[in-house]
Amino acid sequence: MSENTTPITIAIDGYSSSGKSSMAKKLARTIGYRYIDSGAMYRAVTLYAMRHGMIAPDHSVDAEALAKALPEIHIDFKVEGDAQATLLNGENVESEIRSMPVSSNVSPVAAIPAVRHALVEMQQSLGRSKGIVMDGRDIGTTVFPDAEMKVFVTASPQTRAQRRLAELIAKGSQTTFEEVLANVVERDHIDETRAESPLRKAPDAFLLDNSEMTPDMQNRVLLDLYHRTIAGSR
Ligand code: DC
Repeated sequence: MSENTTPITIAIDGYSSSGKSSMAKKLARTIGYRYIDSGAMYRAVTLYAMRHGMIAPDHSVDAEALAKALPEIHIDFKVEGDAQATLLNGENVESEIRSMPVSSNVSPVAAIPAVRHALVEMQQSLGRSKGIVMDGRDIGTTVFPDAEMKVFVTASPQTRAQRRLAELIAKGSQTTFEEVLANVVERDHIDETRAESPLRKAPDAFLLDNSEMTPDMQNRVLLDLYHRTIAGSR
């Protein structure tokens, strides 16, 4: 770890495509913490369900079959230089879990209580020794309610759709702004209104709207918040 301080837990929640993963990763690298992308875990479970015929074309999920299969689903992370790859039962699925078909099915899967319980437990055990930056939707509210540093990231749906579109096009995906915006808006709605751990800002989280910020600006805001947090907890 880069600083001689007691390690803390950093929870970064927010809307899809708000840029929270990039900033969480960058912060973790700068301060020498482990980074965990909890959304990747929901995406990996979704890919498993798709491959096993548990998701119908109308995106309805066979929740019972998926709940039964959970003990067969093993998710790990592999560090490759500066990048991190998600492993589903040992297979590198990093690129596949970012595809539009997985993005279209992940919110209903993430709304299933059995899936959430299993993944929250895994996330809590990954964070047991602290020195971790985890990003997601419920990290500061449910997974680590006692995290020393909490951030809630947001940006307008149009800004987020534009960012996601650029990412998808860079990966060679053929999609339109309208399609991506519809997916962003639909996922926001499902994430905010689900019964189990809905997306919401923890009362003690720092609100960061990065619609008008460059990545450098937001990285500086986060690093500054980290320094203030550890100064306050000394
Ligand atoms: O951050 P992301 O777009 O990769 O997240 C994928 C989906 O997983 C998103 O629809 C919300 C869900 N998710 C969640 O419910 N809880 C988390 N901690 C992380 C992600």
